[in-house]
Formats: sequence, structure tokens, C-alpha cells
Amino acid sequence: MSLLELADVTRSVRLPDDSLLHILRGVTLDVDAGEHVAIVGRSGTGKSTLLNILGLLDAPTSGQYLLEGTPVQRLSNRTRTVRRGRDFGFVFQQFNLLPGRTALENVTAPLLYARGRQFWGRTRIAAAMLERVGLGDRLDTMPDKLSGGEQQRVAIARALVRGPRVILADEPTGALDVETGGEVMDLLDDIASQTGAALVTITHDLAVAARAERQYRLAEGVLVPITLDTASHWVGDVPTQVADRSAAVERRLLPTGTGAVDGPAGGASGTAEEVRA
Ligand SMILES: Nc1ncnc2c1ncn2[C@@H]1O[C@H](COP(=O)(O)OP(=O)(O)OP(=O)(O)O)[C@@H](O)[C@H]1O
Ligand SMILES: [Mg+2]
Repeated sequence: MSLLELADVTRSVRLPDDSLLHILRGVTLDVDAGEHVAIVGRSGTGKSTLLNILGLLDAPTSGQYLLEGTPVQRLSNRTRTVRRGRDFGFVFQQFNLLPGRTALENVTAPLLYARGRQFWGRTRIAAAMLERVGLGDRLDTMPDKLSGGEQQRVAIARALVRGPRVILADEPTGALDVETGGEVMDLLDDIASQTGAALVTITHDLAVAARAERQYRLAEGVLVPITLDTASHWVGDVPTQVADRSAAVERRLLPTGTGAVDGPAGGASGTAEEVRA
């Protein structure tokens, strides 16, 4: 049994003119404990909608979502809320930290909803989590005094402090420079691997996606399996392998002579940015 199983999941919304917008048209996906999965796709293809369904923030219009074998449609609202808090950790592009609260208070916040040891030991547990993300000396610092990368580390500590089974990251490096983004992904990968959590990352950045064991593209409402490496780049709407680079250069989609193709992940990420611009 997989940890998460989506079978032919659709999501449609009714627009003000009474027409239906079909955002997801039949998404099928299995994610096991400990797996790292990346989903790419251009803006507006339904990536966040999919992540929200996985994280019990939204519900499918049709199809089945099994969480550890349990159909989530059958869960009561209360059970769904409890499982969302206990089983899922969310990381967003814009960090979403509570302003005017210290790093420690931000990371402690999810534990206020926990029980037993997690609740009573919340300050110690949150401090240890901040230590683990390299911010043990910034416990009392307010978010606006932290760099973007540090804020995202606090957000990661907050997402992981209850020991979720699944980490859902929606453009976690979207607001960070390439190097800081790489460090943040290292951290997410490491902690997910150490804790055995599944990690589902949504990103425009093909170099970030290339780190995952499995990669998909969301296009026209369905997930298409793809294979990326650190040199993959966008050509139009489609991530393309390095073998197609010459065609991309010809179409003036890539900077020439940068050596980015042979370089580390950062170089490839810069390439993806160029293509998007
Ligand atoms: N509740 C809603 N009502 C109407 N339209 C919606 C609703 N939710 C999402 N959409 C539309 O569905 C499409 C997919 O949205 P979604 O936010 O999932 O895209 P995305 O792939 O995450 O985009 P981005 O990369 O820009 O974050 C968009 O066109 C969006 O405007
Ligand atoms: Mg989105």
C-alpha cells in the first residue's frame, strides 16, 4: 500500500459566468514513504491545486484519493484537519511566517495543536528543530531580521517539527537565489531522508526537480512522467534534455557559451531562468 494514492483525480471549479474550468482532468500518482517526487509545469497548470488536494486543503471533484489506504473523501472534517496537521508539513514560496513572532515562536506554533509529549515539550522540540536547520543561534530573532534563506529554514523547521509523514513544498526555492535555493533543497532532502518522510516538490526550476527520484510534468490536467537531469531546460512549455540544447540555442532560447550545461546544478538553473524570461 502506498502512502499517497491518487486515482484519476479531477478538480473543476465553476466560474462566475457559470462555465466549468477543468483544472485537473485525471491525475494518477502513487507516492511511497521516503520517496522524493518533483512536479513541474508552467504557471496556471494546476500544480498548487494538486498539492492542496494532496495536503487535504482541497478535495477532488471526482476520482479517488487514498491516504495510507483510507479514502479521504470518507474522513470527517475534523479527522481531515487532525491528519493535515499531524501527517503533512507545508513549505511555501513566500515562507508565510507569523510576523512579530520570533523564529522559536513560529516553530512552536504547530505544536500547540499536538498532544502529550509534543505539546508539553514544545519549546525544547522547536529549539532542537531550529538547531537542526542551522539556526540554533537565532531563536529569538524576528522574521524580518532574517534573510530569505534563513526565513525559509525557519519555515522548514516549522513544517517538520511535528514529524510529518509527507512534506509538500510549493515552489520552495522560488523566492531565493540559486545558491541559497540549493542549500534549502539540500536541507529538505536531508531531513526528508533522515525521517523517512515522502517529499513532493512543485517547482519551475528544472535543476531543483532533477534532484528528485521521480519527476512529472503537469500538462493539460494530467501528470506525464518525465526524466530530468541538471542540464534540462525549458523549451516553450516542455522541459528538454541536454541533447536538444543545440536546437534551443538556435532558437535563441539559451545563452550561448556559458558552459552551464557541464556545470553544477546552479548553472543549469540559471539556464532554466533564461528560458523563462
Ligand atoms: N477556486 C478557483 N476558482 C477559479 N479558478 C481557480 C481556482 N483555483 C484555481 N483556479 C485557476 O486554476 C488554474 C490553476 O491554478 P493553480 O494555482 O493550481 O496553478 P499553478 O500551476 O500552481 O500556477 P503557478 O505556477 O502560477 O503557481 C489557474 O488558471 C487558476 O486561476
Ligand atoms: Mg502555484
